Amino acid sequence: MPLQANSRQVSSNQQHPHPGLAATVRKHLASDYRRPVAEHSRAAYRTVTECLEREARPLVLDSFCGTGRSTALLARAFPDHLVVGVDKSDRRLARHTGGGEGNYCLLRADCEDIWQLLLADGLQVARHYLLYPNPWPKAKHLQRRIHGHGSLPLLVELGGEITLRSNWQLYVEEFGLAMHLAGRRGFISRVNGEPPLTLFERKYRDSGHSLWQFTTAKLEHKVP
Ligand SMILES: C[S@@+](CC[C@H](N)C(=O)[O-])C[C@H]1O[C@@H](n2cnc3c(N)ncnc32)[C@H](O)[C@@H]1O
Repeated sequence: MPLQANSRQVSSNQQHPHPGLAATVRKHLASDYRRPVAEHSRAAYRTVTECLEREARPLVLDSFCGTGRSTALLARAFPDHLVVGVDKSDRRLARHTGGGEGNYCLLRADCEDIWQLLLADGLQVARHYLLYPNPWPKAKHLQRRIHGHGSLPLLVELGGEITLRSNWQLYVEEFGLAMHLAGRRGFISRVNGEPPLTLFERKYRDSGHSLWQFTTAKLEHKVP
């Protein structure tokens, strides 16, 4: 089904960073995230191992990639890298139209599983994109947001230049605060680039939403 261009703005019972954000982030940063890796994620991850065995390349991770449109665009932007798109939804991935050949692959897996598997193999990433994750706007769902989730230390350990985008400014601000607490300071800016990197980006832009980005990249870096 095509994404509609009349998407509603995120509505939340939270107008400011969650009062429990710092405590939650600190607690997670001080803990090991140990969730058993699902068998389907482990099977999907083999594609990465095989690609790297064929040719060792720096990694770009496109977590929560949806249909993988951004994965294909990033692969074009970083031809010397292996770009790995990860999404848990078969339905979304089945709508990929990029051909799938070249320097990228799409994995049907939980991101947290793939993060664990990469780290277990001693791998880090050159760049990590987190584009329009589900916002979980209710305050009680803080721990479902990327920065409130127990897997945050994995994301930090994977390193690289991190880019997170959302149409909910507060989400990006909270993510930036969490990254600050984790020692990864960065910048928040508006997303104005063309063409849209993802289908959600296009939908939100066509609906007139402001789009926000946190990046650990230096400002002079062009983030596609
Ligand atoms: C709002 S969509 C954004 C998709 C894409 N980045 C875009 O901008 O078009 C969020 C995506 O996150 C995926 N997702 C949510 N939780 C996930 C998880 N733990 N692991 C992998 N994918 C997940 C969903 O299946 C969905 O495709």
